[in-house]
Amino acid sequence: MRPPFSAPLTVLGIESSCDDTAAAVLRHAPGEAPEILASVVLGQQDLHAAFGGVVPEIAARAHAEKLDHAVEAALAQAGIGLDGLDALAVTSGPGLIGGVLSGVMLARGIAAATGLPLIGVNHLAGHALTPRLTDGVTFPYLMLLVSGGHCQFLLVRGAEHFTRLGGTIDDAPGEAFDKVAKLLGLPQPGGPAVEAEAHAGDPTRFALPRPLADRPGCDMSFSGLKTAVLRARDQLVALHGGLRRADRADLCASFQMAVADLLAIKSARALDIYLVQTPAAPVFAVAGGVAANATLRARLEDVARGAGASFLAPPLALCTDNAAMIAWAGIERLRAGVPAGSDLVARPRWPLDTQAAPLLGAGKKGAKA
Ligand code: KG4
Ligand code: ZN
Repeated sequence: MRPPFSAPLTVLGIESSCDDTAAAVLRHAPGEAPEILASVVLGQQDLHAAFGGVVPEIAARAHAEKLDHAVEAALAQAGIGLDGLDALAVTSGPGLIGGVLSGVMLARGIAAATGLPLIGVNHLAGHALTPRLTDGVTFPYLMLLVSGGHCQFLLVRGAEHFTRLGGTIDDAPGEAFDKVAKLLGLPQPGGPAVEAEAHAGDPTRFALPRPLADRPGCDMSFSGLKTAVLRARDQLVALHGGLRRADRADLCASFQMAVADLLAIKSARALDIYLVQTPAAPVFAVAGGVAANATLRARLEDVARGAGASFLAPPLALCTDNAAMIAWAGIERLRAGVPAGSDLVARPRWPLDTQAAPLLGAGKKGAKA
């Protein structure tokens, strides 16, 4: 007999929706802080580096090769076998379908062999519920998810209840950082490279646009910004016969400032909408690789503080793609009464908020939800 889902649970999480193959083991007893017993992330960035983006077929093959190693490594790190688990959770969307399928098939195989209950998890829910894993934040809270593939504001009202307040209609900010880095001859991933260059730059030198800043609501757009950087670069190259170090630093700083302004303006609006609910202890949380950017984080923290909310950025390893967040989201779902066996069909698209109008962007990392 399996323990009821109100009992302490040890859950294996599996994640393979983009370019990280990940497995994790999480233990949680109701009323106590969850414990990450193991978290293994096998990246595949080196396989995609030459292509300037994630190649879905290469990603799918790499996941198929690495997934069982990731699971074995996670169980070894946790010091348990499959018989020490109470349940399994797997990302079943949204994402690159070949990778998602690899994870779902592996999880189904383990479930069939062991009889363990298995639940499908929305990757975005994994990110969105991370503040509860790391800090025990209570509902409702506001989440900004900013990565290479996603950009959206979510009002997180419950483990199964998300309201999307807005999102990007084209590129994700991380994608824009990566493209700008490429334009300026900087290495990938572009975010850290652009941030490092921007340190020495003048953020006011180039008057880059702030797309959609004046438009009401929380939708965002970043692709025009990248085109403006391209034009500025071409003008500099025509003028000087190449891109001088100081010009590149100024362009990076100006671009970073434009992204910071846009995210700050829209975050202030999202906070206004969220605070109408008068939560007792308002929290504005961020997740995703772009949240690693110190300038952006500082701006968002200011906005949160100005609105009377506390700001929360989970540790970077749990902000970027990982399987601990998938195990946690699985636990939240099971405890919320969602039956094991739910959502095991792999889906390329799977909006968290089914009431919201679909976002337009497609992005280099596949369809956005
Ligand atoms: O969440 P993540 O690891 O993966 C997904 O996109 O799913 O995010 C990676 C993205 C990349 O586009 C990378 O350039 C960006 O996050 N990034 C940053 C920084 N560090 C990573 N963007 C801006 N500043 C950074 N310091
Ligand atoms: Zn992600």
